[in-house]
Amino acid sequence: MIRAPIPPTFEAFRDAARALLARHAAPEDVFWEDVVEGQGVLFDAALPALPAPASPPPRGPSSPAPRVPAAFMSLASAAACHRDPGRFALLYRALFRLTHGEPYLLDVAADPDVARLRALEQAVRRDVHKMHAFVRFRRVEDAGGGERYVAWYRPDHRIVRLAAPFFERRFPSMAWSILTPDESARWDGAELRYGPGLPRDAAPREDELEELFRTYYRAIYNPARVNLRAMRAEMPAKHWSTLPETSAMGELVRDAASRVDAMQAGRSGAASAAAAYVPGARELPVLREAAASCRACALCERATQTVFGEGPAGAALMLVGEQPGDEEDLCGRPFVGPAGRVLDEALSGAGLSRGGIYVTNAVKHFKWEPRGERRLHAKPVGPEIQACRAWLQAEVEAVRPRVIVCLGATAARSFLGGRFSVTQSRGQVFKTPWAEAWTATYHPAALLRMPDEAARAAARAHFQADLVKAASLVAGGAQGSG
Ligand code: URA
Repeated sequence: MIRAPIPPTFEAFRDAARALLARHAAPEDVFWEDVVEGQGVLFDAALPALPAPASPPPRGPSSPAPRVPAAFMSLASAAACHRDPGRFALLYRALFRLTHGEPYLLDVAADPDVARLRALEQAVRRDVHKMHAFVRFRRVEDAGGGERYVAWYRPDHRIVRLAAPFFERRFPSMAWSILTPDESARWDGAELRYGPGLPRDAAPREDELEELFRTYYRAIYNPARVNLRAMRAEMPAKHWSTLPETSAMGELVRDAASRVDAMQAGRSGAASAAAAYVPGARELPVLREAAASCRACALCERATQTVFGEGPAGAALMLVGEQPGDEEDLCGRPFVGPAGRVLDEALSGAGLSRGGIYVTNAVKHFKWEPRGERRLHAKPVGPEIQACRAWLQAEVEAVRPRVIVCLGATAARSFLGGRFSVTQSRGQVFKTPWAEAWTATYHPAALLRMPDEAARAAARAHFQADLVKAASLVAGGAQGSG
């Protein structure tokens, strides 16, 4: 028997398994043990231990290093994180079989070793998914006076290293730490580091963002989807104490039926479903606050937050885009991403300053489709534009701009309904109930997407000219036709 006492990580298993394979150690001769920091090994210390992985015996030309399929490495990196004490023995047995005459073992789904490994992998991947969904950060001040976001979380398996890269991608510019009983992960903006596990008390339980988060949760909660049984299954009770939203749950469930009625009333008539959420006041701060809780259509379910318009009340010029993009959704402000940069450049070319303009979108939630790890923009459809229309109307009534410029067809459709061709009608100025001068031009993101260089240059020139015209309408007193 060979003892293989290793820390409970995939990397430790990989190194130990390499050394064992190099010695042709049969699976039944290896005794795997988890060595957790601060805890002794459990079994017979008299057995010979595996030599240090750094010194595998040299291989001759007759014994090339065994080829391990990439699919096994991926499976093993997940299964190794499972708490099943037999996982390393199982992994090594599968590895041994793969490298000793059964190279297609992983294709045999009915094989008991493969089936068990797949089950472990699935449980771990589900656990990672839950960790992505249920980690909640609290803000703390660190020793240097900077801010750090700290979360405590108790996963079912040892998945910190599998789950942490997601948070690195999601919050690259935030200093954060995730503490779990097994291990902690720390991101400082440049490097992801791992440290020992920590108890619940090491992380704050509340912070001043708690109420903000609850407001956000109320906003994204879809009353039409209330299903208490599914909710309990999806959000296991063990996580409730670290989730600020659980305290809002009672109220949300209680009010669900009346909110659904309001949504349906909005959908069935010609009115915009958002009308049920729009307060009577025509003051931007009041509207903005109410819009944060809008659930007039399903887009609120997947967006991070409502992205309301911004700019001064009384601005002479209002720009209306389509919907927030990925960056806008995360930061809560319109046109701050790549399209915003194109817009800002064209505005300054037209002598307009963004600070004096009211900038908003026809649809206030980011609509997206997953593509791998990315969130790809998806175009809002007619009912979504219609559902959100009441917010745009309220903004127009609050700002009372003299000139409105729609950026792209979606914004134009929000005012006019039906279809609108930017290519045919851009640059024409109309007198409308919404503003003395109403016009439409290209959406800045469309300029970024045009593959043909000549067409892109022409569209950019038109876009610039349309904004120059808008600037002259603002300066000279707007006069639309019609
Ligand atoms: N595209 C839009 O239409 N609006 C934004 O706010 C950002 C990108």
